[in-house]
Amino acid sequence: MRVIQSISEMKEARKNILASVGFVPTMGYLHEGHMTLVRWSKNENDITAASIFVNPTQFGPQDDFERYPRNTERDLAMLDKEGVDIVFMPPVDELYPQGYNSWVEVKGITDKLEGISRPGHFRGVTTVVAKLFNLVQPHRAYFGQKDAQQLRVIKKMVIDLNMNVEVVSVPTVREADGLAMSSRNTYLNPAERNAALIVSKSIQLAQSLWTRGERNANKIKQQLVQMVQNEPLAKIDYISIADDDSLDEVDIINGRALVSMAVWVGKTRLIDNIVIES
Ligand code: PAJ
Repeated sequence: MRVIQSISEMKEARKNILASVGFVPTMGYLHEGHMTLVRWSKNENDITAASIFVNPTQFGPQDDFERYPRNTERDLAMLDKEGVDIVFMPPVDELYPQGYNSWVEVKGITDKLEGISRPGHFRGVTTVVAKLFNLVQPHRAYFGQKDAQQLRVIKKMVIDLNMNVEVVSVPTVREADGLAMSSRNTYLNPAERNAALIVSKSIQLAQSLWTRGERNANKIKQQLVQMVQNEPLAKIDYISIADDDSLDEVDIINGRALVSMAVWVGKTRLIDNIVIES
């Protein structure tokens, strides 16, 4: 496995690859969710590249950039074991040198859901992903459905900017009890870890209400709100049932809808979602 830390070395390495390249961008502190993306890439491409970069521009001033969990040694061992060919892990001032002043911004769907709670977040995500795509030049790039809005924003960027990459979406990987895997789960103390289950349970409740025939989005949301409010350690940021394309809230579920939520458990913000489809 080749570990590359500079832009010049990444460009040079890429020039010499003629085979198909799959790419898994990450912020590190890897778990089975990330490793599943890696396995999909290994399966579909000759060469797999991953990146580890905690991207400061996608964190707001109140966000957890400084305390975001990091363990490069462990991450590299996991990627090596999985057979990754290249790991790109530039220092912050390589990607954002002094005077850096260019941004990639998708409008519209970034104003909703996560975009409301985390202004500027998606601008940071699209900017760094565009830069990483330019450097790694992958044929395919792998993103998790866990970050449903991010996936849609990246797909939109790729279409709008005519980027030559296929965005592959990978289903959410969960712990045995249902909690969606996340690097941020490490912040949870045992009581919070237990309380965090309310998130996946609510998502499941939405799915089962829908399966039993409920199509009134507001009725479903009300039940989810009640469920989360019964958990004293949890505080709702948003609970949404939205059209899967526009991400506008719907009243009646008809066709594909994205049920998504963000919940604070103590000082940790957790997100989860499911797509329901008639
Ligand atoms: P990070 O949170 O490290 O996630 C990297 C990728 O792993 C994302 O595509 C994310 O959706 C996916 N992922 C995380 N948890 C998952 C799970 N439980 N199941 C399936 N996939 C999962 O998302 C980012 O980093 C950053 O925003 C990034 C795209 C790297 C840009 O900085």
